[in-house]
Amino acid sequence: METLLMTGASRGLGRAAAEKILRERPDVRLVVTTRGGELAAELAESTGNPNVTALPCDLASTRSIRAAAAMLSGHRLSGFIGNAGVQLTSRAHATEDGIEPTFAVNVLANHLFVRLLWNRFTAPARIVLVGSDTHFGDLRHNLGMVPAPRWEPVADLTRPRPEAPTAAGGRTAYSTSKLAVVYLAHALARRLPDGVDVYTFNPGYVPGTGLVRDAGPVVRFLSRTLLRALVATPLALSPAGAGALLADAAIGPRPGESGAYVDRWAAAGSSPESYDHDREEELWRALCALEPVEML
Ligand SMILES: NC(=O)c1ccc[n+]([C@@H]2O[C@H](COP(=O)([O-])OP(=O)(O)OC[C@H]3O[C@@H](n4cnc5c(N)ncnc54)[C@H](OP(=O)(O)O)[C@@H]3O)[C@@H](O)[C@H]2O)c1
Repeated sequence: METLLMTGASRGLGRAAAEKILRERPDVRLVVTTRGGELAAELAESTGNPNVTALPCDLASTRSIRAAAAMLSGHRLSGFIGNAGVQLTSRAHATEDGIEPTFAVNVLANHLFVRLLWNRFTAPARIVLVGSDTHFGDLRHNLGMVPAPRWEPVADLTRPRPEAPTAAGGRTAYSTSKLAVVYLAHALARRLPDGVDVYTFNPGYVPGTGLVRDAGPVVRFLSRTLLRALVATPLALSPAGAGALLADAAIGPRPGESGAYVDRWAAAGSSPESYDHDREEELWRALCALEPVEML
């Protein structure tokens, strides 16, 4: 039986995507990373499909990612969905590896998992990394809620900034991490073997998930109430709606050429800034140097 590995299935749009995958693909074993709880049992019960296993993993810890990947050494992988993500209201924190957590979870974790499992992917296979409209950095795409990305040398992107613990800094780290996700998908597309495709998936704006849980009470309140009402407009999707589209990107018809940006339901252009061969290669080299890998 082939295996599909997914991060971020515990809540938000990822949970809806995991449920759709389990309902539609009883022939696939879904492995979901988890930081605790009864996720596999809950997903099995809500979908009636028992082919789901939980793998303990804290994506902010490279040690934990390596341990989780080692558990999959005997598996034939048909896909990886890198959905987990964080948006913090400061750039001041550091993971146990000394890395700024937004970068660690949103970028490095995806790179490390894919590199560790490189030889386990069996064509046809698909890697889907969840990006964000915020990587565009303009009002039309970020609704004024998240500052534009600010690219810097990768060593600086990984560096915690305790000296400037502002919410704008945390959200800039978020949009920049999502720009890095597009770069990572482009760099991966140039390297993965034929038949192993990679995509960035953009869910659009999805109010009502846990993404703003680190934000202040006003933002959290607005996200639960006023902003949630936007799902009735074309400006936003519900977690269930966005999750269904993420599932389609992962298990539906091939969405486009490997490396493409899937904007909710179809391949589309990402921001002009997100096509930058030099930055993509700098990011790839820096990530490889940060976490050298012996493939499993
Ligand atoms: N909501 C939006 O408007 C929006 C828009 C564009 C893109 N996105 C992206 O969509 C993805 C899903 O976000 P969401 O909105 O559904 O947010 P969410 O409800 O907060 O879900 C985030 C998921 O990531 C997991 N996660 C975070 N940090 C982790 C860690 N250190 N180790 C393991 N798992 C970790 C969470 O697990 P726990 O339950 O253990 O915390 C959870 O399953 C993210 O990549 C986000 O950036 C969201």
